[in-house]
Amino acid sequence: MTTATPATAPSEAGATTTAATATTAAAAAAAPSAEELDRTDPLARFRDRFLPADGVVAYLDGNSLGRPLRQTAADFTEVVAGEWGTRLIRSWDERWLDLPLRLGDRIAASTLGAAPGQTVVADSTTVLLYKMMRAAVTARPGRTRILMDDDNFPTDRFIAEGIARECGLELQWIRVDKAAGITTDLIDEALTAASGESFGDQVALVVLSHVSYRSGHLADVAGITARVHDAGALVLWDLCHSAGSVPTELDAWNVDIAVGCTYKYLNGGPGSPAFAYVASALQDELDQPIQGWMGAGDIFAMAEGYVPAKGMRRFISGTPPILGMLPMQGMLELIEEAGMPAIREKSIALTEYTIRIVDDLLTPFGVQVASPRDSGERGSHVTIRHPRFKAVTAELWKRGIIPDFRNPDGLRLGLSPLSTSFGEVLVAVEAIRDILADADADPDSDADAESGADADPGR
Ligand SMILES: Cc1ncc(COP(=O)(O)O)c(C=O)c1O
Repeated sequence: MTTATPATAPSEAGATTTAATATTAAAAAAAPSAEELDRTDPLARFRDRFLPADGVVAYLDGNSLGRPLRQTAADFTEVVAGEWGTRLIRSWDERWLDLPLRLGDRIAASTLGAAPGQTVVADSTTVLLYKMMRAAVTARPGRTRILMDDDNFPTDRFIAEGIARECGLELQWIRVDKAAGITTDLIDEALTAASGESFGDQVALVVLSHVSYRSGHLADVAGITARVHDAGALVLWDLCHSAGSVPTELDAWNVDIAVGCTYKYLNGGPGSPAFAYVASALQDELDQPIQGWMGAGDIFAMAEGYVPAKGMRRFISGTPPILGMLPMQGMLELIEEAGMPAIREKSIALTEYTIRIVDDLLTPFGVQVASPRDSGERGSHVTIRHPRFKAVTAELWKRGIIPDFRNPDGLRLGLSPLSTSFGEVLVAVEAIRDILADADADPDSDADAESGADADPGR
């Protein structure tokens, strides 16, 4: 079965159980229905470009793993037969050696707001984060601190912990509201000692996420980057939850370093390689710690010692995962065709619609929105909270409705602008309402059980 938009959107007024919800349902009736929003969606035509998923009625986890395109299998067949099967090792010279840089430039142009020569595709996000953080702290000798918010994604936190230990630095945590995220005020506070004196001059590196993996909070990259630069430190932005859904202007925002994954909104497939951006002016200053032959100045010189390549090639370590770079190239075609402004517009429409129907249908059951309500401060997913959500998520998966669960009580509704319909959101929110209503009627039901959707690795 294909991921479906219901032919006739089920009535939102059907959820009313009390006088209060009747009032909100009346307000909802005045707002556009899922059916109307899908009918007038200027990007609706793109949904058919994704492979239908048998048994899935609503896929709301594209912020964890994007769906494959219909064309991906044929693209693989062609490469296996042609570039790999026929051209064999000659393809390294003909196309593959430059692919990490060419593909990086393409991601930069279509989604990052970055000029060519500053982006490379290589390694996993985790490995690139390590390489970039390690290079950045080494480039600011004498400074002894790394700053990071305490709700950053686990891999970012764990790598910073390791680098702090390895380099004898102090990791300073910035406490953030888990339903919101990092702000310029929090950065100002963190760069200022309790005494009121700035100790920004002790900070080597600040590591933050553009879109919070938990709340979807969208950080003010330009504002925060400027504050960090005033303190003479470098800043690394994790773009995993924004690349391909929220446009960035890395050059205009004076970003130093950014790293992002390609299997969420760039639909590169499980384990597809990540990208890293380093501003041109900074590239020669950064010495990355995994000095492999593919990042050397002359790859085939087989030289005695390592001399890094000029420019972004120096951030490559070993043989790049060429096949893993294939599916994202198809997705970039779609992104280029749709354009990031239209993609962002659809993303906002989807998250606004989600919050509206959550308010209408789920608030009566005690569900809370744990994402910013201002679209200007929100990425492309909405997190909602309820103590029963672990079991609810497991039940949703059984019904072919796929969001994900984040400890301790968060259910994330990931909205991929090119593949998600408004109808899918409605199907999911109505199902959550029904499961919670059943659990209220029968407190011993499965929705109270501690079985959960832990199979989904934390993303
Ligand atoms: C925000 C963020 N940063 C880093 C990572 C780690 O990426 P990887 O597992 O590809 O190394 C993820 C994974 O989902 C993520 O969501």
